[in-house]
Amino acid sequence: MARIRLLVRKIKIKIMMLKMRGNSNTEGLIDLINYIPDNLTMAEVGCYAGESTKMFLESNKVNLLYAIDIWEDEMDNFKKIRPNHDFSIVEKTFDETMKEFNIIKLKMRFSDALKSLPELDFIYIDANHDYEFVKDDITNALKKVKDCGIISGHDYNNQSPGVIRAVNEFFGEPDVIFSDSSWLVKLNKKT
Ligand SMILES: C[S@@+](CC[C@H](N)C(=O)[O-])C[C@H]1O[C@@H](n2cnc3c(N)ncnc32)[C@H](O)[C@@H]1O
Repeated sequence: MARIRLLVRKIKIKIMMLKMRGNSNTEGLIDLINYIPDNLTMAEVGCYAGESTKMFLESNKVNLLYAIDIWEDEMDNFKKIRPNHDFSIVEKTFDETMKEFNIIKLKMRFSDALKSLPELDFIYIDANHDYEFVKDDITNALKKVKDCGIISGHDYNNQSPGVIRAVNEFFGEPDVIFSDSSWLVKLNKKT
């Protein structure tokens, strides 16, 4: 009995570890997905266990998705919050979840992935939320997104001041902020 209880506890810890979005976070992303157009070639920068990736893919709005992530706790950000955190389990879960979908997985930094990417309609940034990283991700996104494409991302909120600072420096303010604190900017690079 004790062994079963221990096993159940371990499973619960793993499930908790792999959940990135609560209900409110999920609803905001659904609104964002309803907002974006159809027939997208997109990249998600920061996919974790694939919760948001799966939502993009299940919307039927995405023809091809490039999933970019290092699956690595390079600054121990996750271990600080969840001591049992293990990125190898996160990546395995991502791979398992993605089996039914046609994606291109790029296990690398966004800057290293640029050469493998075509022009994109839509880029969703949800990787490292520190200012310098978000700034680099937006700089790289601007190199790859089409003239009238969309750049978007997560955590435009007070818990992630680096996201707010970087987004505002580039764009003034986002065109839309969703209830999960996703931000979105429609580009018009030609004007
Ligand atoms: C907040 S999680 C992504 C959550 C996911 N979008 C979701 O909503 O389910 C952040 C992810 O970014 C990745 N990451 C952190 N720094 C990165 C970097 N410099 N380049 C690429 N990925 C990075 C981490 O490995 C982690 O999986």
